Amino acid sequence: MSSLNEFFTKNGYVCVNVFKPDEVEKLREIIEKINGTNRNIGYTSKYFMEFPELFIACVHNKIVSTLKEILEPNYQLLPDFTVDVERYGFNIPMGAWHLDCATEKPNRYLSEKNYRFVKCGIYLQNNSKEFGGGIDVMPGFRRFIRTSNTDLDFKIKGRIEMYTRPLFSKTLDIKAGDFVAFDSRLPHRGTQPSKNIKKDKNNKLYYDNQGMKKMVIYYNASRRRYVQPYLKTWYEKSYLQNANNNLDFFNYKYPDSYPNVFLDELEKHQIDIGQYIPE
Ligand SMILES: [Fe+2]
Repeated sequence: MSSLNEFFTKNGYVCVNVFKPDEVEKLREIIEKINGTNRNIGYTSKYFMEFPELFIACVHNKIVSTLKEILEPNYQLLPDFTVDVERYGFNIPMGAWHLDCATEKPNRYLSEKNYRFVKCGIYLQNNSKEFGGGIDVMPGFRRFIRTSNTDLDFKIKGRIEMYTRPLFSKTLDIKAGDFVAFDSRLPHRGTQPSKNIKKDKNNKLYYDNQGMKKMVIYYNASRRRYVQPYLKTWYEKSYLQNANNNLDFFNYKYPDSYPNVFLDELEKHQIDIGQYIPE
């Protein structure tokens, strides 16, 4: 087992330095163009289609080799790419701690031994307890105690996390240009800054960024076996119900809708994007 894979197996995440300062700056410029003066906002696939540089960043050589090691050589990307700007998880109960897989709750595969599905983040600023910029995680807390009932599995996991969080939570030492992949079952939250916190006119907390906006590119990657169930859940739970704007990726077809420069990169790496196939 490679040392990266060993670290992931033990801790449920890996952090790798990928982008040089000038590359970070270029990505920040693109996001700045999209973002303007908004805060606490996410941008979906539509923006990646317009600015393929964002897609290309997600398949940087170092990132692909990392994911091949911790997932499998022909892993799949999921089509739900996002850019988050100035999101810290303020004003959310439970201090914003959550599991990304919570939306897939009734599914039994979440407690399968071979389940590997990761949230990927490209962080475009340093992280710190004072100013935020990255995430806090509970290293190693990614498995469920499997009972006969998935709801119960979640409850038990949630309780254990709640009581042990003060002891085991960790602010990741992320630097601008780092790539982090973490298990979708790993408890995490955006690192909440302790400095420069203000209240807006609606009495909501926000971070006064002093000219340095928090920007993160987020996307998902998985062992192939778990791609369809994930897409099916989102399709049935949200997309069909209310055509959730965050799910605009269902409007794009792979490969036809994607920019050629991105498709060439995918082909070079022998990976692809999962596409929902209704049964
Ligand atoms: Fe999350």
